[in-house]
Amino acid sequence: STMGVKDVIRKELSSLHGMPFYESFIEGWPQVETFQARPDDLLISTYPKSGTTWASEILDMIYQDGDEKRCQRDAIYNRVPFLEMKVPGVPSGVEQLEKTPSPRLVKTHLPVRLLPSSFWEKNCKVIYVARNPKDVVISYYYFYQMAKIHPDPGTLSEFLENFMAGKVAYGSWFEHVRGWWEKAQEKPILYLFYEDMKKDPRQELEKILKFLGKVVSEETMEKILHHTSFQQMKKNPAANYETMPPDLMDHSLSPFLRKGISGDWKNHFTVAQNKRFNKHYQEQMAGSGLCFQME
Ligand code: A3P
Repeated sequence: STMGVKDVIRKELSSLHGMPFYESFIEGWPQVETFQARPDDLLISTYPKSGTTWASEILDMIYQDGDEKRCQRDAIYNRVPFLEMKVPGVPSGVEQLEKTPSPRLVKTHLPVRLLPSSFWEKNCKVIYVARNPKDVVISYYYFYQMAKIHPDPGTLSEFLENFMAGKVAYGSWFEHVRGWWEKAQEKPILYLFYEDMKKDPRQELEKILKFLGKVVSEETMEKILHHTSFQQMKKNPAANYETMPPDLMDHSLSPFLRKGISGDWKNHFTVAQNKRFNKHYQEQMAGSGLCFQME
C-alpha cells in the first residue's frame, strides 16, 4: 500500500459489505476474512465504546494470574490484538496475532455476520460486552473527536441521527447487539452488560471465570478488581491508550478513558432527542428479548 498515516486522518468512511468502515481497514480485509483462529483463542467482541478495553484488561489479568506487573509488559492494544485493525506503518491486527503465542486474546468490533468463519469452525469461546446505546453514542461522539481515523462527527444532534441510521463506523448498534445475542443462543458466547459490570464487578468477574473454567484465589480476585477499576486503568499507561501516536489519538480533545459511568447520556441528550431516540429504540429492539439498563 502507498498509504501513510496522514491518509487515514479525518477520512470519510467507505463501505464493507454494507457496513460503514475505515478505508484502511478495508485494505486489510482479505487477510481478516481468511484469518485462522486457534481453538484456544478467546474472542472479546463488542460494538465500539461498550467496555472493550475494560474487558480486555480483566481477561489479561486473569490470563496473567493477577500479576499486574506482567500486565504492564505492553499496551493493551498489543496485549489483545485488534483483529480487523489496519493502518499504514504499523503491523496489522492479523500480523500481530500470527506472532502471538497461544492462548491468545483477540479483540473485534465486527458484527456477527462479518466474523471470519474460522472462529465458528474452531468453536472458540467469545465474551461479548453490550452497553446501553445512549451511553454508547455519547462515548462514541467523544471518541470520534479524539480518534482521528474517524470523520468529523459534526454536532451531537447530527451524530445522533447518524448513529440511529447506522451511518457510523461498524454500522448499526441495534443490529450488532441483536446479531450477537441471537448467536449466543447456539454458540459458546458469554453475553455481558457494561451496566452489570459497573454495578457488581465481582459478580461479573465470577461469571467470566466460570465461563473460562478457571478458579482463582480470593487474593487474585481482589487484585484483578482493583487493577481493572476505572481509576486505576485511567492512570495506567499500558491501559489508557496514551502511548498511541498523537496523530491518531488526541487525548487533549477527550481522554480515551473519559468518564467510565452509566447514565452520562443524561448530561447530553435534550428531552426531544431522548424522546426520538426512545421511539427508534423501541422500533429496532421489539421482539429481541434484550433489555438494557439506561438509568
Ligand atoms: P466513556 O466514554 O463513557 O467514559 P471501549 O473500550 O469499548 O472503547 O469503551 C470505552 C468506554 O469504556 C469509555 O466510556 C471508557 O471510559 C469506559 N471504560 C474503560 N475502562 C473502564 C473501567 N475500568 N470501568 C468503567 N468504564 C471503563
